[in-house]
Amino acid sequence: MLLWMQICKSFSHFLTSYSYNRLDALIVNGYQIKEYPVENGYEGNALSVIRIEGGRELNGDIRIQGSKNAALPIMAAAVLIPGTTVLSNCPDIRDVDLMKKLLESMGCRIRSSKGQVEIDASGVCQCHLRKEYIEGMRSSIILLGAMLGRFGKARIGYPGGCVIGERPINYHLMALRELGADISVVEDQIIAGASCLTGREIIFPVSSVGATENALLAAVSAKGVTILKNAAKEPEITALCRFLTAAGAGIEGIGTGTLRIIGGPLHETHYHIPNDRIVAGTYLLAAAAAGGHVHLEDVPVQELIVLIDSLRNMGIELQCQDSAVEIRSLAKYRGIPYLATEEYPGFATDLQPQMAAVLTCAEGNSMIEERIFDNRFGYVEQLEKMGAAIVHEGRRLLIRGIAKLHGADIEARDLRGGAALILAGLMADGVTNVSGCRYVERGYEDIVRDLSAMGAKIEYEQSEGL
Ligand code: EPU
Repeated sequence: MLLWMQICKSFSHFLTSYSYNRLDALIVNGYQIKEYPVENGYEGNALSVIRIEGGRELNGDIRIQGSKNAALPIMAAAVLIPGTTVLSNCPDIRDVDLMKKLLESMGCRIRSSKGQVEIDASGVCQCHLRKEYIEGMRSSIILLGAMLGRFGKARIGYPGGCVIGERPINYHLMALRELGADISVVEDQIIAGASCLTGREIIFPVSSVGATENALLAAVSAKGVTILKNAAKEPEITALCRFLTAAGAGIEGIGTGTLRIIGGPLHETHYHIPNDRIVAGTYLLAAAAAGGHVHLEDVPVQELIVLIDSLRNMGIELQCQDSAVEIRSLAKYRGIPYLATEEYPGFATDLQPQMAAVLTCAEGNSMIEERIFDNRFGYVEQLEKMGAAIVHEGRRLLIRGIAKLHGADIEARDLRGGAALILAGLMADGVTNVSGCRYVERGYEDIVRDLSAMGAKIEYEQSEGL
């Protein structure tokens, strides 16, 4: 078995080698596929370190924050409304801060207090958006559909976001073109214009969350009826549709792969951002791995059925009632013979790294296949520094469960990969220092606060540049 794993490993390393250069560009097989500027419009840098003394059980109650991936496109959609949008349960995270900065730079007036964000887009203008803000996150591209809808023209740079593979925007542009936009790409700028957006049928070759969001924003502003086929069905799309219908849009088929949108004017509205299924999933996995008895509240349970079933198959005890989940774990669990990430309602790619970390200490072997992104295993090398036995081949990981990870100095390179490394630190013997944790703050309000409230020995070691 060991020999087989070693052979596979040398083979997979031969196939794919990853590294990062000093400029934080991801190099795959010597080819630079994506530059990822660390500063990305944020103040400070990505160097903050979280120190974890592993081996403690988690016990207690935790409330789940509002959803990042629901909040961001809804904030972008506020640009369509010539008045004030009030969003409650908005998560207090870095990506939301960055979206606020972007909207303010476009002339929106923003007031925030205790999870409530008010966006007054009456005075919004079609202006040149700062490159470092646009490159700071993926959701900035949703402003393309929003600006086209509001002004009939837009100019925006290419979005950034986590380095988890190539993330083209061809289907975003395809959908907007089908609705009547003229789009050209000049140097690194996307320049779009439409004298009149017109509804029609659009069939997406691939189900894409972002492309569906952009198409929705342009379609609600278009003349006539748009039908989106093979639209993404993720809960964040449902949230965006519900926000738009609350603002006056006509959308049928919400939650399905076929959306029928009737264009028309939008009005001011108030919307409650749903809770974050990925944060809830991360904390369930943390409790499963560390052991203990944790009670999670404000959990979108229906959106986590596949994770909950997987945890039960691993031998973990979970009880769900309405929006609460109780998890009891002895930190001893079985591996999963095969788990593939899928579009919703399948296993979420955003929970794949955290699940892989947990499976490093499962009984027996597990296999994970990543089917959404082509390079979402950047964290594997870091887990190996902690003793994990993982063979990485293309889009698959074969994980041989070991008794214990050991603490190490490791580095987060993206949001969910960073969360996975923190979970690994909870499971490990000794001290783990995870650097690069500013990436984690893009999506988690305060993972240190939440885990230490449950009894973990975890703290910020250093926060350079703050
Ligand atoms: N794709 C294309 N062309 C496109 C658009 C997408 O080929 O024009 C491909 C992508 O390369 C990928 C697949 O389609 O292989 C799915 O990508 P999708 O567009 O659905 O993802 P996204 O909109 O870029 C959002 C979330 C991600 C989440 C994915 C999948 C936001 C801001 N991001 O990304 O969240 O993983 O959907 O559910 O909503 C995260 O929160 O950590 C995160 C990465």
